[in-house]
Amino acid sequence: MSEQSVSDTDRPEKWVCVDLFSGLGGFSQAFAESERWDVITVDFVEDFEPDLCADVLDLRPADLLELIGLDRDEIDVLVVLASPPCTQFSLAASRYERFVDGEPQTEEARKAVALVYHALGLIRALSPDFWVMENPQGYLRQVIGDPTGRVTYCQYGTDYMKPTDLWGDHPRGLSYRSCSYGDACHEHNTDQEHGGLGNMSGLQSYTRDSAERAKVPKELSEAVRDAVEEEIENPPPEQATLVQADGGRNAPGLHTATDRQ
Ligand SMILES: C[S@@+](CC[C@H](N)C(=O)[O-])C[C@H]1O[C@@H](n2cnc3c(N)ncnc32)[C@H](O)[C@@H]1O
Repeated sequence: MSEQSVSDTDRPEKWVCVDLFSGLGGFSQAFAESERWDVITVDFVEDFEPDLCADVLDLRPADLLELIGLDRDEIDVLVVLASPPCTQFSLAASRYERFVDGEPQTEEARKAVALVYHALGLIRALSPDFWVMENPQGYLRQVIGDPTGRVTYCQYGTDYMKPTDLWGDHPRGLSYRSCSYGDACHEHNTDQEHGGLGNMSGLQSYTRDSAERAKVPKELSEAVRDAVEEEIENPPPEQATLVQADGGRNAPGLHTATDRQ
């Protein structure tokens, strides 16, 4: 059978996961391990061998679709994951007063905010079925609002707690596992005790070592993938409107008992 004669219903489903600020690929690792997903990674550090080595700030939605090689309506399920750099939003750097009431106070903080909003713009434009943006709990909440969920990484297999915020359109089944400070599940509160955040000066240097520490735990990646797949396979029943639920008798314009008969 020639490629052209394969009908739409015969063609394999295209499930695509785009990992923005992919670093060592921690966030999308569970998707990459599954044969069902095509994963596209984007980072501006060549050493991390992303599929697209580019500054996210320079990207347009069309660049990502071109990389995927499909029009948006040819993608059956699109998931976007994003891990924008956290240095400027770090609570550990609060002495630098980079943010006051959610307003950036320095040039670097303004750049970090612009980058997050650009990533959010790309996500909005691509209209993914699901998206998850993560950042260690910090000042980003003050900028883009409360997260959809909050997790601590020790609940996903690390020996440090690292409270982390998750924003986005999440699959319904995604649970947010978290513990409290001082609980026995973690040895350290952050990953700083493992050598610091690596980039506290605010300089944009991303070494493999700092990338290792920023890597999203595999169990969190798996939790996102599994919840997405669960929702694809068992979509929630469509919400009936009041009119539908009442067999149409609630429709506007029907007011009298006779009308409804
Ligand atoms: C928090 S780390 C990502 C960790 C990654 N999610 C993981 O699990 O391995 C942030 C990444 O963003 C990349 N990055 C920072 N600014 C960027 C930009 N403007 N464009 C593209 N990548 C950028 C850095 O190189 C770094 O790898």
